[in-house]
Amino acid sequence: MSDPNGWESLSEWYDRKQGDSGDLWHRSLIDPVLIKLIGSSTNRNILDLGCGNGYLSRRFAKERAIVTAIDSSASMIAHAKMHDPNNELGISYQVGEAHNLGFLNDETFDVVFANMTLMDIENAEGAIREVARVLKEKGRFVASLSHPCFDNGKMSSWLLEKSFLSSIVYRKITAYKQLSFEDYPWKVSENEWRWTRGYHRPLSWYSRILTQFGLAIIALEEPEPTAEFLEKEEQGPWFLQVPLHLVIEALKL
Ligand SMILES: C[S@@+](CC[C@H](N)C(=O)[O-])C[C@H]1O[C@@H](n2cnc3c(N)ncnc32)[C@H](O)[C@@H]1O
Repeated sequence: MSDPNGWESLSEWYDRKQGDSGDLWHRSLIDPVLIKLIGSSTNRNILDLGCGNGYLSRRFAKERAIVTAIDSSASMIAHAKMHDPNNELGISYQVGEAHNLGFLNDETFDVVFANMTLMDIENAEGAIREVARVLKEKGRFVASLSHPCFDNGKMSSWLLEKSFLSSIVYRKITAYKQLSFEDYPWKVSENEWRWTRGYHRPLSWYSRILTQFGLAIIALEEPEPTAEFLEKEEQGPWFLQVPLHLVIEALKL
């Protein structure tokens, strides 16, 4: 099985993890901002780029959006389809590479969103070019991603300084300016780890490439931990100091 970025062999586990409403980090930290920026989806043509198990595609289809959902992993798409075997939601699922969406017409979508996917795409410049092509004029691209300024995999970490009366949390990061990639570990069972490849690019890289393809950034949001996230995630309170995720909204001019 060809699995260049690791997602193919992770799909069964990832499907279980995301289920129908997303895991804790998605549901209670990242998604509320992404969903707010996407806004009303009824009767809108929406593309879910790097859809994973498609839980957000199903959410928007239930709001009567016209949804196309694309992922480069055939197995991920197969899992997504299993959630709605008769396709009552009418989602158009396709296996495809984000930088090569030739099977989609120009100026088709009101909204393209990519939830925690851009930093996993090797050819993100090609993907952004394709997003700009398939968006209608005044259409919007909404993308959540690992925060380029504060999350650079092994090149970043939390630093906790405890003193007698208080403790301070810092975020350390290096190699920020270099384009790089690394394999990220996922604990799939007590004794088993798998890896997927992720790509670090500085914030200015995203800004430059979006601009190059006629996408103007109109919002940058840094998700705030919700009460559920603060209660259930040990690192939750640290996110009140430093965000590890960024959500970008860009308008096609
Ligand atoms: C972290 S998962 C996010 C999945 C989903 N958006 C979610 O929020 O649960 C990243 C997804 O991007 C997909 N992906 C990685 N590279 C891709 C590419 N070049 N084109 C399309 N999808 C890609 C992976 O197969 C995986 O499903």
